[in-house]
Amino acid sequence: MSENLLEATGVQKHFPITKGLFKRQIGAVRAVDGIDLEVRAGETLGLVGESGCGKSTLGRLFTRILEPTDGKIVFEGEDITHKSVTQMRPLRRDVQMIFQDPYSSLNPRHTIGSIIAAPLQIQKIPTPQGLKTAVQELLELVGLNPEHYNRYPHEFSGGQRQRIGIARALALRPKLIVADEPVSALDVSIQAQVVNLLEDLQNEFDLTYVFIAHDLSVVRHISDRVAVMYLGKVVEIAERDELYRNPRHPYTVALMSAVPVPDPVRRDRAQRERVLLTGDVPSPINPPSGCRFRTRCWKAQDICATEEPPLVTRADDPESHLTACHFPVVSDEIVAGRRPATTPV
Ligand SMILES: Nc1ncnc2c1ncn2[C@@H]1O[C@H](COP(=O)(O)OP(=O)(O)OP(=O)(O)O)[C@@H](O)[C@H]1O
Ligand code: SF4
Ligand SMILES: [Mg+2]
Repeated sequence: MSENLLEATGVQKHFPITKGLFKRQIGAVRAVDGIDLEVRAGETLGLVGESGCGKSTLGRLFTRILEPTDGKIVFEGEDITHKSVTQMRPLRRDVQMIFQDPYSSLNPRHTIGSIIAAPLQIQKIPTPQGLKTAVQELLELVGLNPEHYNRYPHEFSGGQRQRIGIARALALRPKLIVADEPVSALDVSIQAQVVNLLEDLQNEFDLTYVFIAHDLSVVRHISDRVAVMYLGKVVEIAERDELYRNPRHPYTVALMSAVPVPDPVRRDRAQRERVLLTGDVPSPINPPSGCRFRTRCWKAQDICATEEPPLVTRADDPESHLTACHFPVVSDEIVAGRRPATTPV
């Protein structure tokens, strides 16, 4: 097993909800609510889940753009949980983030040359070949014309702007890149190109990725492991092929059946086996007791309301991997189509 680049233990991020002039705290959004997760050196860890389940918040905790409310984050053996902005500065080189929206994350009034040069200047990175050449090398690396360094973001297409974002993240030669839905805003035809670029760069620079998406098909292509999140928790995590072959958590099964299947024969079968995710995601301000998925789960029983299922591998089950469920799905259940079409409770 490869060593861990980053380790999160019991990590929480609660955003306070305040009221009135004196900002009295009346509650909290439990965006990330107790997560243990490691990121292994050189891997791509896919992070999936519906909107609002805390993916971006976790990504921002990993990169320490946000400070955890509780728990511990260790990067390369160093505890970074509560490091200040100044203390984090040397680490900024090693940990970078790419954002979903290449439009809003690039300053429209700056040329792309100055956008990409900024991290090099802030971190005072020596560029013996000159700053302009360093920027042009980065542009070339991400498949953009190095002659275009004087152009502005609006002169580029969505896919090209995401390449600019990638060049900016790459400038400091980071070890870990957290990519928060980097292709979600792009046309499907462009998505694969950007994913391929990220893969090429990973091979060339030994990068480690945390790749956030709610589209399971994107994550499948690029990930070595996949963690599934629901309402601030990780509910299942496994090696990529293992997760897609043998999903154990009812939520993962439901998410998978929401992925469109292109082949008509398989599509027909997928339709029959479809589990609809009915009902709204409960509020992270007041999540359900016990298992948080129980209000939408077709397998829920009484114990699910009273006891929170831990994220464990079952010693008595050779098929199992880390899953937080009292009644994990077994593969015959899916093949035999015994699953009900909708979710009661
Ligand atoms: N700064 C903040 N202050 C208060 N609440 C926040 C803040 N940031 C996020 N939240 C809340 O925390 C929860 C998790 O948000 P987050 O953006 O991490 O989810 P997500 O999984 O990335 O969703 P999406 O797929 O829509 O990007 C949401 O309920 C969100 O409204
Ligand atoms: S613990 Fe119960 S409610 Fe939660 S996913 Fe498993 S069966 Fe469903
Ligand atoms: Mg998000």
